[in-house]
Amino acid sequence: MPAERPSEFVEEIELEGHIIDSLLLPKVLDEITNRGGRFELKDVQIGHNRSDPSYARLTVSADSQQALEELLQRIARHGAVPLDKQDCRLVEADMDGAFPEGFYATTNQDTEIRLDGQWIPIARQEMDCGVRVDRQRRTAECVPMSDVKTGDAIVVGRSGTRVRPVERDRITRDAFSFMHSTVSSEKPKGVTVREIAAAMRRARDGDGKILVVGGPAIVHTGSREHFSYLIRSGYVNVLFAGNALATHDIEQSLFETSLGISMEHGGSIEEGHEHHLRSINRIRRAGSIRQAVEAGLLTRGIMYECVSNNVPYLLAGSIRDDGPLPDVITDVVEAQRKMRELIEGVTFALMIATTLHSIAVGNLLPARVKVVCVDINPATVVKLADRGTFQTIGLVTDVEPFLRVLVDELRQ
Ligand SMILES: NC(=O)c1ccc[n+]([C@@H]2O[C@H](COP(=O)([O-])OP(=O)(O)OC[C@H]3O[C@@H](n4cnc5c(N)ncnc54)[C@H](O)[C@@H]3O)[C@@H](O)[C@H]2O)c1
Repeated sequence: MPAERPSEFVEEIELEGHIIDSLLLPKVLDEITNRGGRFELKDVQIGHNRSDPSYARLTVSADSQQALEELLQRIARHGAVPLDKQDCRLVEADMDGAFPEGFYATTNQDTEIRLDGQWIPIARQEMDCGVRVDRQRRTAECVPMSDVKTGDAIVVGRSGTRVRPVERDRITRDAFSFMHSTVSSEKPKGVTVREIAAAMRRARDGDGKILVVGGPAIVHTGSREHFSYLIRSGYVNVLFAGNALATHDIEQSLFETSLGISMEHGGSIEEGHEHHLRSINRIRRAGSIRQAVEAGLLTRGIMYECVSNNVPYLLAGSIRDDGPLPDVITDVVEAQRKMRELIEGVTFALMIATTLHSIAVGNLLPARVKVVCVDINPATVVKLADRGTFQTIGLVTDVEPFLRVLVDELRQ
């Protein structure tokens, strides 16, 4: 007797765009076979030139409806859309601060929803959110769980959604055009830093916006003059950090130490361990960092340059903060909201020596934003990529030589 064939659950899907050179089609086929599914290519049209889009239509099959659903969900991330197109399903939120069950969970890739037969883009693309739709205006946006209001129309399920994955940059063939996290301490850094400098110059001189996320090692390693140069020269359009970066920067301005270590001779100073507390205290007495600058108390350093050059900064709180400085936002949900506002229009993000803030900001950025993460520990860059910020270029190095070489490149 012939072996009984398992019943097949099948869906026809299509993919279009630069699916060959951006490796989207191979990724889709890989996902299907690696997860025990099967595919049959029905139609493939490959663009003749580099700028021509390609097209593929294929059937995907699995042994159960659930396995098929899981497969379709995975390949949707690479731009696969079912041929049988339906509108998205909207369900009204029944309470504040939570989605209806089965809500569509977003990725950081640009996504569209189908409403009354037409595809509309989702604004403020961000991973791990839901999608709120304004039926009257025919708009859709990513909404974090905590911002959901009763009555909001929320997308539920996967149907009527399609992802537009980031395609390999066909104009500039730089380190970013490969969209892979190149994490290694053994790769030539000079070339990468040159390309980072070129990307920053393009952003500054064009319509880009540069976000820098920084940790206190920038100050501890004596790199703040390099960083101040970046701010003064227009290479920092917005700064995100925690209490520590600002505190130690101000400590250096007021006491010439960072964590009590002399920035001049590298030795510890008597009672130097109190300097950062005294610094925070002085700023609290002044009211804010801006007020300290205006009162002539703070006359140099990173935070001074931000205030003087009107570069917006956001200091997000953490449980280990001393003080904190009066500018630190200690409500994390509120800090995230403000970060989302400041992130609008960011095209390039440079994350330096902070695991906490790099991953937090990576979670908020759409995948189309180029991200460079500089850290002495490869685990930080790997974590960032593993948490979904896959477009990260990682540079494993001490922050001081990195910033020194970057500034040299930008000065040329
Ligand atoms: N006194 C304070 O208030 C205080 C002190 C420290 C941290 N904090 C706060 O705690 C939170 C976490 O702090 P964090 O972001 O510094 O810690 P973190 O552990 O998240 O990140 C520090 C990163 O710096 C990297 N690093 C260290 N030296 C380096 C170097 N020379 N070159 C390159 N990379 C280097 C480490 O590998 C690590 O990834 C922040 O919000 C911070 O403001 C507060």
